[in-house]
Amino acid sequence: MQPLANITPIKPAARAGAVQLGGVGLVYKTSGQDVVAVSDVSIEVKPGRFAVLVGPSGCGKSSLLMMMAGLRHQTSGAISINGAPIEVPDPDRVGVVFQEPSLFPWLTAEENVEFPLTLRGVSKQERRAKAEEALQLVGLDGFGKRHPHELSGGMKQRVSIARGLVQDPPVLLMDEPFAALDEQTRMTMGDELLRIWAATGKTIVFVTHSLTEAVYLADEVIVMSARPGRIVDRLEVALPRPRTFEMLSGDAFGSLRDRIWRHIRKSA
Ligand SMILES: Nc1ncnc2c1ncn2[C@@H]1O[C@H](COP(=O)(O)OP(=O)(O)O)[C@@H](O)[C@H]1O
Ligand SMILES: [Mg+2]
Repeated sequence: MQPLANITPIKPAARAGAVQLGGVGLVYKTSGQDVVAVSDVSIEVKPGRFAVLVGPSGCGKSSLLMMMAGLRHQTSGAISINGAPIEVPDPDRVGVVFQEPSLFPWLTAEENVEFPLTLRGVSKQERRAKAEEALQLVGLDGFGKRHPHELSGGMKQRVSIARGLVQDPPVLLMDEPFAALDEQTRMTMGDELLRIWAATGKTIVFVTHSLTEAVYLADEVIVMSARPGRIVDRLEVALPRPRTFEMLSGDAFGSLRDRIWRHIRKSA
């Protein structure tokens, strides 16, 4: 177990959904030179907040998310979710959505959503009920019997969000989930995600390349430097909610986006 000494202890009542990283580093061992992907990253996301992680390509955003999901282990530092270390994937605490929906083509939408529950031996009846609820939440009511090839790109991504939510984890990690979608679908999905977030009160850590998407969605934007990724800035986005299309052209929006861009440009 990693020591949690560099992470502030939090009261049990405030733990659900808390995400804490203290001095996290990651070195990839390769056959050639070791790759220092991430260096001394400390982040605290309070329960129920929407945090967005941005930074130049290859700066270690996906690596950070993999570690928060328990899919990879950090070389140094500590990561805690709900006040306890995360060592292996734990879908009761953390749901994950990737850029590619990665659905099984031979399963229906609802079977794909049920899949994490199937793995855990949950009864058919309970699985179906939970999958239905999750599909309803993402606006796919009535599409459960379709196969992935019968769904649009946006709908497939909704299915994968439903799969991330099916065990009702307090934390949802999303790695460029809308990057492969066209711009209109992407905007709609952003609004949909904000609706789901508001309805469920989950903590979300969301990675994106798009500075507009970052500011539009976030309570806070965490900016990373080029590899090895370090945190270079953290911005509070105090724009009111619900966010609207009109805000995109406002001064407040523009100055936040400019501030992020100045960091990214420096490290490009
Ligand atoms: N399995 C791996 N082995 C070696 N290097 C890797 C591996 N995965 C990622 N990297 C390297 O680590 C760095 C960070 O990668 P990644 O986390 O995917 O960045 P980002 O998501 O910000 O684009 C990159 O330089 C990448 O080439
Ligand atoms: Mg990535």
